[in-house]
Amino acid sequence: MLLSNQVAIVTGAAQGIGKGIALKFAEEGCFVAIADIRDEHARETLNEVKSIGSDGLALSCDVTSSGQVAAMVEEVIGKFGRVDILVNNAGNIIGSHAAMLNSIGTLPEEDWDQVVALNLKSAFLCSRAVVSNMRKNNSGKIVNISSLGAVHPPKAQPHYHAAKAGILGLTYDMASELGPDNIRVNAIMPGPIRTPFYDPMLKDMPEDEVEEFFRNLGKLAPLQRVGTPADIAGAAVFLASDLSSYVTGAVLPVSGGMPLSPGMVSNKG
Ligand SMILES: NC(=O)c1ccc[n+]([C@@H]2O[C@H](COP(=O)([O-])OP(=O)(O)OC[C@H]3O[C@@H](n4cnc5c(N)ncnc54)[C@H](O)[C@@H]3O)[C@@H](O)[C@H]2O)c1
Repeated sequence: MLLSNQVAIVTGAAQGIGKGIALKFAEEGCFVAIADIRDEHARETLNEVKSIGSDGLALSCDVTSSGQVAAMVEEVIGKFGRVDILVNNAGNIIGSHAAMLNSIGTLPEEDWDQVVALNLKSAFLCSRAVVSNMRKNNSGKIVNISSLGAVHPPKAQPHYHAAKAGILGLTYDMASELGPDNIRVNAIMPGPIRTPFYDPMLKDMPEDEVEEFFRNLGKLAPLQRVGTPADIAGAAVFLASDLSSYVTGAVLPVSGGMPLSPGMVSNKG
């Protein structure tokens, strides 16, 4: 197994991509702390981690609160003695216009602050909270979940895309500072991944139209489908394990080939 007896914190692992990462890590022998605000779903993820044969914690934690983040990390170290892996995954587009386009001309300041706090400040707070333990162990892996939208925004979401681009800057900075401590820091840029992330946008759509929405979205990618949490989890295992032992400061798109367009040549010969 690739992560035997390692201890990971995965933020936002109650559902979606974070849950996919937590379960894949558990399959690889990793203990997983699920840090999320959705307590019931976090407990469900933990039960699945345990049914795979691993162990972990479901911790109620708002990752935008430095006090809650510090308490969460303390609890993980209290139970497992160390943190080997941090996945800064929690994130979303929240605020009063969450499901819509957000023109720079009308975006409420409050939405900017909330989205930047959730998608960028949280990664700073969680990384800061684990780094002394990782330094003590002279070992650590931090995986930051950005978005392809950081560099190729598909529509106007300036607060979200700026925060996700900020994650790339944070990744490069931490990789540079923490390399001498044998702490590797990398980022994943997911393309469209089918998760509850899309629920607010699709809540009024009939089920068959939802399927069509994802089919059409998938057609934008060379691989002709939207991604799954397991697609991101595979990349996260790579970046969290010794398979990537000489990789730091890297940004990996996991996007079915986007932003490349699907090939236009129909003659497959
Ligand atoms: N789904 C996609 O297409 C896609 C594409 C690019 C990037 N991403 C990024 O991937 C990450 C995971 O997205 P997802 O699709 O699984 O979304 P999701 O909405 O399904 O899951 C997000 C998780 O984060 C948790 N969360 C939200 N606010 C929190 C807070 N303050 N404290 C702790 N936990 C909190 C939620 O409870 C939820 O469990 C996010 O950072 C997202 O921006 C997703």
